[in-house]
Amino acid sequence: MQGNLKSVYSQVPLTVVVIGASGDLSMRKIFPAFYALYVQKHLPHKFYIVGFARTPLNTDSFREQIGLWLEKEVRNISLKERDDFIGNCYYCQGNYNNIDDYNRLGKLIEELEKNEKSNKIYYMAIPPFLFLTVSNSLHLSNLSNDSGGQTWTRVVVEKPFGRDRESSDELTVGLQRVFREDQIYRIDHYLAKEVIQNLMVLRFANLILEPIWNRQYVDNIRISWMEDLGVEGRGGYFDEYGIIRDVMQNHLLQMVALIAMEQPIRYEADYIRDEKVKILRCITPVSLSHLVIGQYGPGIHKGEQKVGYREEEGISLSSITPTYSAVVLFVKNRRWDGVPFLLRAGKGLSKKMTEIKVQFKDVPANIFSEIVPHMSPNELVIRVQPEAMIALKIVNKVPGLTLSLRESYLDLSYESAFETRVPEAYELLLLDVIRGDRSLFIRSDELESAWDIFTPVLHELENKRIQPTIYPFGSDGPASADLLASRFGTTW
Ligand SMILES: NC(=O)c1ccc[n+]([C@@H]2O[C@H](COP(=O)([O-])OP(=O)(O)OC[C@H]3O[C@@H](n4cnc5c(N)ncnc54)[C@H](OP(=O)(O)O)[C@@H]3O)[C@@H](O)[C@H]2O)c1
Repeated sequence: MQGNLKSVYSQVPLTVVVIGASGDLSMRKIFPAFYALYVQKHLPHKFYIVGFARTPLNTDSFREQIGLWLEKEVRNISLKERDDFIGNCYYCQGNYNNIDDYNRLGKLIEELEKNEKSNKIYYMAIPPFLFLTVSNSLHLSNLSNDSGGQTWTRVVVEKPFGRDRESSDELTVGLQRVFREDQIYRIDHYLAKEVIQNLMVLRFANLILEPIWNRQYVDNIRISWMEDLGVEGRGGYFDEYGIIRDVMQNHLLQMVALIAMEQPIRYEADYIRDEKVKILRCITPVSLSHLVIGQYGPGIHKGEQKVGYREEEGISLSSITPTYSAVVLFVKNRRWDGVPFLLRAGKGLSKKMTEIKVQFKDVPANIFSEIVPHMSPNELVIRVQPEAMIALKIVNKVPGLTLSLRESYLDLSYESAFETRVPEAYELLLLDVIRGDRSLFIRSDELESAWDIFTPVLHELENKRIQPTIYPFGSDGPASADLLASRFGTTW
């Protein structure tokens, strides 16, 4: 079955301005993703990628840097295609608040366009405190205009979108002073991961799940996001946000929304986002009694001694920023009332793994319970990483002359089931920005509802200076998270 993939091989040229082009995200993700789109012929015939940042580079040294990063990030790269691609890249050095620099950027774009107006994407690959400075500068230098509707202008913003509901609203209002909401693309790259995209297909293109996808049959839902790395040189950023803002309020909540929402009217961006907003509004704000926070201390992982969070570069010895959190959410609607959604996310843990587990209830009056007294219930496991897979835990008879039962999995591994290259999340997201498909981007009302769930507890944690529990690097997080799960009759 093949969907209708609209070609973007349009005749209208495209200019992408990457603001903060010298940074980690630009080099590791954005340029490789544009390169992949170029190789797959998803970019228009004429396209220009213009880097804008303060770092003293020129077009030649910028191209050289991109070339080196592409060699590092892209497997089996063709040198010819690499050189053709970087031949479309240009650099403009400038300060983020200097209008003269933006005027020079505008001039460069005009020279490239040679009277043939291009569609424009401004990609904000900069720290969030610069978002409004840059959007105001784009406005003051007349770069944010849609050129009378002949071409479009879109802006891509990276998370985090604020620190709480108030700062997120300020950011929204500030951006909307310059761009219309339909021009703003807020990225949550988790939404573009294959398995996450498959959630809606799994639920709404199959019949068998719907009758059991509710409080009558589902006992609990657990989502784990585990990373076996520390802050890896991004301590300054992380310490300001912490794991709840960095991962839970966005990636994990988006997963909850896709699992819990009702079927959209149609498979279209606004209908999908309407349903997500509806379900997020049904979630009661997190309470302190349903929350655990932790912070990694020193530990040993894969035989290597690791420092604790407070010893990481740029982190204060008295930091109380959580690197781990576990919470329980409740969705107050007729489908889910009373079903706990348990979420945990952490850095410095034993492994890298993201998965969703939908645990069903025990079989009533089970005639086999005398043979196996503690039979575990059915469970649907949706694993995002390391290896993408979907598995259903069922109870089976072990072949033989006696009756013996065992739990086993009906599983679908993406790698063996689909002999196709799995695209990087950023490839799909950037292609969607070009196509104007906003399904995988966060709408402002979605953002508001997501912040409403976490803002009160984040403020309470900070006002009361609640100390996180220290757990050793390389462990599975604090024991209090296991206790939290056990209060709801389950384990992670
Ligand atoms: N890296 C990731 O994997 C990742 C993942 C998810 C989201 N994000 C988000 O994506 C955005 C970019 O991330 P990044 O990791 O690429 O950031 P970064 O490397 O810290 O910053 C990008 C560029 O912004 C400029 N910059 C940095 N700090 C600045 C400061 N204090 N004042 C003025 N300019 C500054 C620098 O360019 P110049 O000095 O050349 O001007 C830098 O190269 C951020 O919003 C981040 O939260 C990143």
